[in-house]
Amino acid sequence: MRRILILNPKGGCGKSTLASNLASYYSQAGTPVQLVDFDPQGSSMDWLAVRPASAAPIHGALANEEDFMVPHGQGVMILDAPAGVHGKRLKRYVKMAQTLLIPVLPSPIDMRASAKYIEELLLVGRVNKEKTRVAVLANRVRENTLIYHSLERFLAALEIPFLTHLRDSQNYIRAAEQGLGIFELPPSQTEVDREQWQPILDWLASKQSLPTGS
Ligand SMILES: Nc1ncnc2c1ncn2[C@@H]1O[C@H](COP(=O)(O)OP(=O)(O)O)[C@@H](O)[C@H]1O
Ligand SMILES: [Mg+2]
Repeated sequence: MRRILILNPKGGCGKSTLASNLASYYSQAGTPVQLVDFDPQGSSMDWLAVRPASAAPIHGALANEEDFMVPHGQGVMILDAPAGVHGKRLKRYVKMAQTLLIPVLPSPIDMRASAKYIEELLLVGRVNKEKTRVAVLANRVRENTLIYHSLERFLAALEIPFLTHLRDSQNYIRAAEQGLGIFELPPSQTEVDREQWQPILDWLASKQSLPTGS
């Protein structure tokens, strides 16, 4: 089963937003989706709880990293990590998925924390191309701000792919309130967001996001 883990050292950077929008994207495309929430706050499960019965189905579960067993079967599993997993716990998380996605906010604190985290991932988490692929993206971006330009330079200088930036948009809030993703809102209203998501979807659909040893 395809497993995609969303993680970041800090809360509030958009992990659950990414996880739920990815789950919504795959489900409306007809792919069987499981959304696994490791965060005791349970944001992803709260989102799923308000998802309308008429929307494409997503199977959800709250999980504990110590009990997690890699599943077999078809489809995609989206894993929503809690903030700030380090050391041994981080290693355990990294082993759960073939692909890691790291959202970073345009803020100096978030950027510094993410730089250290990526270093830790590569060293402690032993992330390497044979076993795990990782990419970053910028979230809640207001274009043409100085801080966004420095985030862009920072992300581009990393040794891992910088996929895209997602703008700060009420569409994410509106979709989340209804248990939906932006791909389930009217295209006319979400055109820009869909375009910004495309590089994520393309990367996830390509071999570039799969470990060479898989
Ligand atoms: N691109 C975005 N535009 C607007 N609001 C966003 C965006 N990404 C996340 N948010 C909002 O920011 C808050 C934190 O996001 P969340 O996904 O819960 O972060 P995390 O899971 O990393 O703690 C939520 O209220 C969410 O709706
Ligand atoms: Mg969360």
